[in-house]
Amino acid sequence: MQYYNFDFVVIGSGIAGLISALRLSRLGRVGVISKKVASECSTNYAQGGIACVMTSDDSIQMHLEDTLDAGAGLCDESVVREILTGGPSAIEDLLHYGLKFSERSAEDGGGFDLGREGGHSKRRVLHAGDFTGREIEQALLRRVAAEPAVVMMEHCMAIDLITTSWLGLDDENRCTGAYVLMQKTGQVAAVRAPVVVLATGGGGKTYLYTSNPDVATADGVAMAWRAGVPIANMEFIQFHPTCLFHPDAKSFLVSEAVRGEGAELVNREGESFMERYDRRGSLAPRDIVARAIDSEMKASGQPCVYLDIRHKGRSYLESRFPNISAECRRFGIDIAEQLIPVVPAAHYFCGGVQAGVDGRTTLPGLYVVGEAACTGLHGANRLASNSLLEGAVCARRMADHLEQVRPDRQFDRRIPIPEWKFDEAVPSDEGVVVEHNWNEVRQCMWDYVGIVRTNRRLDRAYRRIRNLRQEIREYYHDYLVTGDVLELRNIAAVAELIIRSAQLRQESRGLHYTLDYPSLLPTARNTVISDPAGENI
Ligand code: FAD
Ligand code: SIN
Repeated sequence: MQYYNFDFVVIGSGIAGLISALRLSRLGRVGVISKKVASECSTNYAQGGIACVMTSDDSIQMHLEDTLDAGAGLCDESVVREILTGGPSAIEDLLHYGLKFSERSAEDGGGFDLGREGGHSKRRVLHAGDFTGREIEQALLRRVAAEPAVVMMEHCMAIDLITTSWLGLDDENRCTGAYVLMQKTGQVAAVRAPVVVLATGGGGKTYLYTSNPDVATADGVAMAWRAGVPIANMEFIQFHPTCLFHPDAKSFLVSEAVRGEGAELVNREGESFMERYDRRGSLAPRDIVARAIDSEMKASGQPCVYLDIRHKGRSYLESRFPNISAECRRFGIDIAEQLIPVVPAAHYFCGGVQAGVDGRTTLPGLYVVGEAACTGLHGANRLASNSLLEGAVCARRMADHLEQVRPDRQFDRRIPIPEWKFDEAVPSDEGVVVEHNWNEVRQCMWDYVGIVRTNRRLDRAYRRIRNLRQEIREYYHDYLVTGDVLELRNIAAVAELIIRSAQLRQESRGLHYTLDYPSLLPTARNTVISDPAGENI
């Protein structure tokens, strides 16, 4: 078996992972592990932008109030303040890394062109056209490529964390590395480091319909759970209200910024309906808009609703939303002339591995940043464009913390890590089982654990997912590991976490809406699931 030794291992190469790597490279050698090509991540597809207070008529307090309001009473106010206050320095870093945000013309007063999205009381979203994520990812990857202390390991997929208690060592339990599947050879390697940073993103692929790319299988959450680290608020799955509805448009998002610039949500008759649900109309927070669309679709029997932005005219639309205009055109929709058919789809995990703003978890040596973490910023519903911000701020804060404590200096680099056990495993000739179970998990989550929930649907989903997990477990032990099997094992594990968390929350709050408990309990509490390590292999 191959062994790799680093001072820091970062798993994931989106905004949180790459900023972590760049900041940590000042302290030592960093290995970045990414399961596909490095740029394949949610960050790369972000459109709307990154929220940050940038103007004198805006303030941290106003951004904080909008965040708390969207979060439906469950945000941790001190965490929100800390992250929002860290925003301007994180933006400075991005500019320093070479990112160029869109600016207004001199006639329009110059300065950054700030966008607006649902739930924001001010224009405060920095963007690069509607390619913001791609521009961020490319700028960061260019910097990483020029940094000799960072080793990028693409097509390498972390399987599980390695802890000292799992190794049977007597010391205080800590994380010492990870087993990694080298996807090009099928071999398993051990990557050893005193600090492991999970920056593995979210898990939209747990659901049948999602805005997320294929890599979003919540591997980090599943790995941390198996290692006994507490997982919080997994019931709060954000459904983005407006994904393009077209049989061939897999996961394409129509940014909330389109509504920010005046698009109205309308039904097939062209009637605007959002005012019936919320005074903020089409710009209400996402949980409200997604539920309203779901209700309109159920009442009318129609498979989608529509966005109407025709009044803005072709030249404006093509310059402000070049990506959306071109992608819709590819599917035969001219957004300057036609309505855009849209549906909600799973978009973002507000929950994740319980972590501080500096990424610290209950397991020494393990840090979690970005969408994989649950810091308390988003509460029961994330405010638009606060995610890229969280990833950037927390990665920076994590590196600052490690600069202070330097755990790498006391780490015993000789810790023996056993070879990966293949036992009797053979190559699989049953790929159809993986394919079938993959679809079944995602369909089950979509049908029973979606925008509107009930006790009966959750119970049914729980029974099915438990059965599927048992089957997947057997498959995992009998056959040689592949990326597909590992992802299936992870989405099934995370599906169970989502269902259990939803069953524990006996109220409707933010993104968790259940017909059995339609009201809000007086006290807001986090749902934390903490099972002993190894229990959920
Ligand atoms: P990601 O960017 O998802 O990166 C995760 C990385 O981990 C990937 O490189 C992946 O390959 C790797 N990985 C995962 N598992 C493993 C494993 N087992 N082994 C090795 N590598 C692994 N947020 C905003 O704030 N503003 C927006 O405008 C916005 N628009 C969005 C549009 C879309 C279409 C989507 C999908 C999301 C959007 N979001 C937006 C949300 C935001 O993009 C994500 O929450 C954020 O980019 C997550 O960053 P991250 O670094 O935590 O994870
Ligand atoms: C969007 O552009 O609508 C996505 C923004 C986000 O998820 O924060």
